[in-house]
Amino acid sequence: MVMRLDKLREGKAKILYATDDPQLLIQYFKDDATAFNAQKRGTILNKGVINNHISTILFQFLTREGIPNHFVDRLSDREMLVKRCDIIPLEVVQRNLLAGSLAKRMGREEGAVLPFPVLEYYYKNDALGDPMINADHAVAFGLASREDLTAIETITRRVNDFLRAYFDQMGICLVDFKLEFGWHKGSGGPTLLLADEITPDGCRLWDKSTREKLDKDRFRRDLGRVEEAYQRVYRLVCASVS
Ligand code: TMP
Ligand code: ASP
Repeated sequence: MVMRLDKLREGKAKILYATDDPQLLIQYFKDDATAFNAQKRGTILNKGVINNHISTILFQFLTREGIPNHFVDRLSDREMLVKRCDIIPLEVVQRNLLAGSLAKRMGREEGAVLPFPVLEYYYKNDALGDPMINADHAVAFGLASREDLTAIETITRRVNDFLRAYFDQMGICLVDFKLEFGWHKGSGGPTLLLADEITPDGCRLWDKSTREKLDKDRFRRDLGRVEEAYQRVYRLVCASVS
């Protein structure tokens, strides 16, 4: 059993703690919710517990699919043991349907199926409001190498193929999602791992038949019944393993 030590970093939705194993960290999931670069703040009751459980199940599936990720174990309702990573300051967004900031940027209604999954990069920088950048920017500013981006893109597309089919069979459309990656410095040299979380905080999930939103957009857009939406996704994801 690892021992939880000092708090290393507190983010908007999670806290990272050191452990007595220098290669491992504890990721603690909070109920806090923010939107629009933390201009809007609130809490979603039990979100931390739900997101920890959902992320655990999804990382376990992805591990079985051979997708390298930071998940090691779920320690408690809100704590996940993960491999220590130096996070690459990129938010990698993959979109299947038109929604959110892309719909706004292109001046179109949300909901159209995109002709192919669209990949975007955002520079993870709160002071700048996470601006969208392209691959050349990421390389030119030393955030990642060309080879790193190729690997990130390949993993992201495989995650999309898996998650899209997974959610589809439970009646949910995976509209888009955000991933983060990091470098784990293990004994065999650095390895690129999928990190962070995969939860309704960072995915758009729509009911396939009613198109009802079952994700953080309910909080961002004041749509109500936020907890109910998270609970529903939680129940469906739990049912997929029982
Ligand atoms: P966007 O349409 O607002 O750019 O969001 C695309 C996806 O990325 C959506 O599934 C929500 C997720 N996302 C985050 O996880 N964190 C963020 O800060 C933002 C803006 C979006
Ligand atoms: N990352 C956003 C924030 O900074 C939250 C979001 O829109 O998902 O508050």
